[in-house]
Amino acid sequence: MATTQVWLGMPPCASRNSDVYMGVTASAPAKVILFGEHFVVYGEPAIVMAIDKRAYAKVELRQDKRLYLRSVNLNLAGCFETGFFKVEQGGTKEARLKFEPLKLVVEKVQEIYGENAGLDIEVNSTVPVAAGLGSSAAVAAAATAAVGALLKVKMSKEAVFRISYEAEKIVHGAQSEVDPAVSTFGGTLLFQMDTGVRPLDVKADVPLVVGYTGVKRSTRVQVAKVRDTRNKYSRVIDHMMKAAREIVLRAIDALKDGDLETLGDLMNINHALLCGLGVSDESLEWLINAARKAGALGAKLTGAGGGGCMIALAENERLKQVLEAIQRAGGSPFIARKTDEGVRIEGI
Ligand code: MEV
Repeated sequence: MATTQVWLGMPPCASRNSDVYMGVTASAPAKVILFGEHFVVYGEPAIVMAIDKRAYAKVELRQDKRLYLRSVNLNLAGCFETGFFKVEQGGTKEARLKFEPLKLVVEKVQEIYGENAGLDIEVNSTVPVAAGLGSSAAVAAAATAAVGALLKVKMSKEAVFRISYEAEKIVHGAQSEVDPAVSTFGGTLLFQMDTGVRPLDVKADVPLVVGYTGVKRSTRVQVAKVRDTRNKYSRVIDHMMKAAREIVLRAIDALKDGDLETLGDLMNINHALLCGLGVSDESLEWLINAARKAGALGAKLTGAGGGGCMIALAENERLKQVLEAIQRAGGSPFIARKTDEGVRIEGI
């Protein structure tokens, strides 16, 4: 990962005399992939942007050795004790699925700390789940930072990123590191598997509407679908990979120049490639067409596809019109703004 070591700061009011703090809250942003999803899994570059929707993790010490977990937005709660899981709210399977990655986060941080402490972790997120906005990576990064700060483990952002990626592997299987990277570091990033993260200096406003189709989907399933298609039509897909790379290279310049028109065109072409891979669906196409008809400069699916979310780029004065069109077409839209802040400690 081509990053310098950036340390997670502690709020100045925190006491450093005791071994640990009593409670810490941390947060991390969701993301949109502007260009290059799926192709990134095969080593091509992608451009990803952190947005102003965040996941929060509040961690407190327990007197016993249990790990108690609660998700406010998903209405789930459960407890791990000596390797056993007991659900306290919601379905056992769903709770276990959501909480296993957080258990791993705790174990990894405690490995560094050198001792097992009992913890209460409460997660709350404003990011739609299973929608392509990286909610699980944002939760993992926030939880890693909060547990680390609570136990006073000096953690670099690089360490938070690594641990969040381990957690993401449980959620989605082994894929690219793009989601945990952007949740940890924030900003607009160029990401490639072999070179890692390179921050892009984007001064221009990138006015986006995100439209949620309401269709939940699994990243793992969509990635497997693309793998099958690639195995079957490898020479065709290889040409698409090359086209996806060119789109990203052109988009880097367009982002630096604030050239929204070119960015919109490139988003449309990128979406056509994703359709070719078979990861768009009817729910996405409705919203994308509605956005284009309402004057968006470009629109595409974002993330793994198969439902989830689309993004539309529009001049600021057209945003409302595009947002309303997406709503009329059955989507749940919101205006997304770029955020430069990755994972951060909110309070102690
Ligand atoms: C998921 O947000 C993006 C994908 O490219 C998968 C990945 O990169 O891990 C579909």
